[in-house]
Amino acid sequence: MNYKIGVIKGDGIGPEIVTEAMKVLDKVAETYHHKFNYTQLLMGGCSIDANGVPLTEETIQACKDSDAVLMGSIGGNTTTSPWYKLPANLRPEAGLLKLRKSLGLFANLRPCVLYPELRQACTLREDISIQGFDMLIMRELTGGLYFGERRTEEVDGVMTAVDTLSYNENEIRRIAVKAFEVAMKRRKKVTSVDKANVLDSSRLWRKVVEDVAKEYPEVTLEHALVDSTAMQIVKNPAHFDVMVTENMFGDILSDEAAMVTGSLGMLPSASLNETKFGLYEPSGGSAPDIAGKNIANPIAAILSGAMLLRYSLDLQEEADAVEHAVQKVLQEGFRTGDIMSDGCKQVSCSEMGSLIAERI
Ligand code: IPM
Ligand code: MN
Repeated sequence: MNYKIGVIKGDGIGPEIVTEAMKVLDKVAETYHHKFNYTQLLMGGCSIDANGVPLTEETIQACKDSDAVLMGSIGGNTTTSPWYKLPANLRPEAGLLKLRKSLGLFANLRPCVLYPELRQACTLREDISIQGFDMLIMRELTGGLYFGERRTEEVDGVMTAVDTLSYNENEIRRIAVKAFEVAMKRRKKVTSVDKANVLDSSRLWRKVVEDVAKEYPEVTLEHALVDSTAMQIVKNPAHFDVMVTENMFGDILSDEAAMVTGSLGMLPSASLNETKFGLYEPSGGSAPDIAGKNIANPIAAILSGAMLLRYSLDLQEEADAVEHAVQKVLQEGFRTGDIMSDGCKQVSCSEMGSLIAERI
C-alpha cells in the first residue's frame, strides 16, 4: 500500500532521531512491500527561522493531507535561544500547541514500559524496579491550562499574570472514553488523576469520568490526586495500567514516568483525533545541549513510528516488528549514552537506528 506521511523533524535532536525513525520505516516498507511518501514540513524554531512564525497554514494543510505525521521535537534553550525573545505566541511551543488544536488531537497516549533489559538504567530502587511496570498515560491534549485564556498585566501597580484552567463535560467525556476503550484491551484498570480536593475543573472531571465508567463495567476505576500520583509513580509504578488526566498534569506525570523507565529518550507518544489520523512524537524534548552530536537516543522516535504504523495505518504486524527489533537490540546489549550501563556496548544515534532497522 501507498501512504502519505508528513515529517516534522523540528529542532535540537529532532532531525537526528527522526532520520533514524525514517530509516526503520523504510526498512518496514521494503520488507512488507509498502510505499511511504514523505513530505518534509517545518514547525517550531526552524519554521521561525525560515518563515518568521512557528507554524504556517501550509504546514497545517499538509498535515491534514497526510495519513499521519511523524515528528521529532521542537524548541531550544529557553534562556539562550533568540526564539525566546519573541512574544509568547511566536515561540516554537506555540506552533506545536496550535498544530495539536488545529488537527483536533485531543488524546495523547504515552506508554511507559520498563523493559527488563533496562532495569539497571531505572532510577528506582531495585526492589521496586524488579517488579517492572507497563502503564499508559492518556493525557488530554487540547484543553485545560495550556489552552485557557491568559494575560499578563499591571493590576494596581503590581504585575499580575493569569492562566485559566477550563474544561467542559464533552472534552472530559471524549478523553475518558478513549481511556476506557484502551483499558479494555489491556489490564482493565483506569486511574483518573485530578486535584478534586481543590479544583472545580477536577470535580467536574471526576463526575464525568464516573458517568463514562458505567458503560464499562468490566473496567475497574479509581480516582487519585495528582500530588499523590506523582509519589506513587516512584513508589509503586506497577500499580498503574491506564492513567487518564488533564493536559498539564499529564505533561508533568509523563516526564516523571518516562524517567523511571530509564530515560526520556525511550518514551514514544501518539496524539489522536476522532479519526485514524495522528501525530507521533517522542514525549521528551529537543535536548539542545546534545543536538548535532549523534549521541541522542532515537528509540522514542522509532517507537513513535511503530505507534504510527499501529494506530494510523493499521499495520499491526509491522508495528510489532519494530517493537521486537527494539527489544532485540536492547537484549543484545546495545545502548545509547543515556541508558548505558556496565557490560553494555555504547553506540551512537545513527548506529542505534541501523541496528534496529537491520532487525526488522
Ligand atoms: C510535550 C512538551 C510540550 C507540551 C511543549 C513543547 C509545548 O513538553 O509534548 O510534553 O507541554 O505539551
Ligand atoms: Mn512535556
